[in-house]
Amino acid sequence: MTHLHRLLVLGFATLALSLHGADAAANWKQYCAKCHGPDGKGDTKMGHKLGILDLSDAAVQAKFTDDDIFNAVKVGRKDESGKVTMKPIEGMTDDEIKAFVPLVRSLKK
Ligand code: HEC
Repeated sequence: MTHLHRLLVLGFATLALSLHGADAAANWKQYCAKCHGPDGKGDTKMGHKLGILDLSDAAVQAKFTDDDIFNAVKVGRKDESGKVTMKPIEGMTDDEIKAFVPLVRSLKK
């Protein structure tokens, strides 16, 4: 390995480590914001279509547990008639899913 290579590898390792805490925020933007909106209010085209709840509302936040947040991402959500409204996010590790719990809670205004 040349000196430059070594520097590059080190640089990427540091970058990966420092980005780790931002994973949930990046995942939220990528996987969740199209329905829930960047701020969780659900003020999106999909959100209106699905009658999504405002996750920044304290009363809404009080209705679900941390486990519900985990399960919403892991197994998805259905409405009363059994129609799937939120599909589970495929290929995400349990740790990545757990990281959504504090993120979702932080949407509360
Ligand atoms: C296809 C649109 C869609 C996407 C994408 C989506 N959701 Fe949802 N989500 C919904 C709908 C619809 C509901 C059910 C109605 C509600 O609670 O607002 C819901 C409910 C929830 C709830 C409330 C769970 C409960 O038990 O009440 C949480 C928390 C949640 N979503 C988090 C997420 C997270 C985190 C992501 C990204 C990994 C995500 N959602 C992606 C549509 C979506």
